[in-house]
Amino acid sequence: MNSLLLDALQCKNHARPPVWLMRQAGRYMPQYRSLRSKYSFLEMVHQPELAVAVTHLPLDLLDVDAAILFCDILVIAEAFGLHLHFDEGIGPIIDNPLQTSADIDALPTPNAEEAFAYVAKTIRYLRKDLKVPLIGFSGAPFTLASYMIEGRSSKDLRKTKQWMLKDPESFHKLLKRIADLVVDYLILQINAGAQALQIFDSWAHTLGYRQFNEFSIPYLKMIIGKLPKGFPVIVFCKGSSLFASELANCGASAISLDWNGDIAKIRKSLPSGIALQGNLDPDILYAPPSVIQKEVTNLLESMRGDKGYIFNLGHGVLPDIPFEHVKMLVDVVKNFH
Ligand code: CP3
Repeated sequence: MNSLLLDALQCKNHARPPVWLMRQAGRYMPQYRSLRSKYSFLEMVHQPELAVAVTHLPLDLLDVDAAILFCDILVIAEAFGLHLHFDEGIGPIIDNPLQTSADIDALPTPNAEEAFAYVAKTIRYLRKDLKVPLIGFSGAPFTLASYMIEGRSSKDLRKTKQWMLKDPESFHKLLKRIADLVVDYLILQINAGAQALQIFDSWAHTLGYRQFNEFSIPYLKMIIGKLPKGFPVIVFCKGSSLFASELANCGASAISLDWNGDIAKIRKSLPSGIALQGNLDPDILYAPPSVIQKEVTNLLESMRGDKGYIFNLGHGVLPDIPFEHVKMLVDVVKNFH
């Protein structure tokens, strides 16, 4: 059993850093595209046999040190009865986004065991033969609320921020409703066999400092506080290089850093005992192999000897990155002494 990731999450890894990548199973892989030509994305998420097969792809093709459940953060919105689909070239679309506080009051209280039985099944199948740790995940309340309000990806989250600023009370009510379901969802994943969790507050970087501390951090804290004590949790947001010290106080074992900050410098500013994951600019993977090799090595050198360092990108692998470049990145990390 490869325990590099779990050791690093406890800041006890004496070997080379573990490597896995956000969006490690995705369209940059010819094998993923081939499966996707037969099934929709949500079919692959909802059918445990398919989700298991896709989760395995990066293990078989890249030999990374961790598996991440193949799913999506937006299954939470779906469980709340919002109608979710993914359209080619657009991404996620919710046909009935939230528009008024009455829509929040009308949200059902989903039973996680029923709503996410397919996720539990996928995790149980995976754990039967995985040789690397399995990471489960969820979106965080602010990011999920933004999709439930915008109805699709948005660069500035204008509707969400207007709602938040004009009617903070109902916005908090929504965040709390989401947080409660996220807790049940993550506990379901732990019970099914997830060995670590990552919480994605991807769009929290749209918030200013005070709003981040009011609308993101308290909910991360609330969620992590309700999980079994000491269970390894990684928190990610874009903006994490800026908000690292706040994130270090929300009870997580690790922070996944975006690519803007100098990870070694951020390490020095944080309390000991917190693991750090990241933070190569995903666009570096467009560069020629010699540049990728140099950038990956520089990053590894800057964190040399750090017992709580996990190699990853600062965000997910992009769909048009050449597969061989990703393979090379993983090989460089695995051959680092
Ligand atoms: O990391 C992994 O390999 C595990 C699987 C995973 C997916 N989405 C698969 C996926 C994870 C962890 C996510 C998280 C996710 N989903 C986030 C948070 C991380 C981040 O990127 O900030 C967000 C914001 C979403 C919502 C989402 N799902 C968007 C905006 C899109 C469309 C953009 C795109 O790349 O097409 C998705 C679709 C999606 N989720 C795909 C995959 C593999 C592509 C679907 C396809 O095959 O067409």
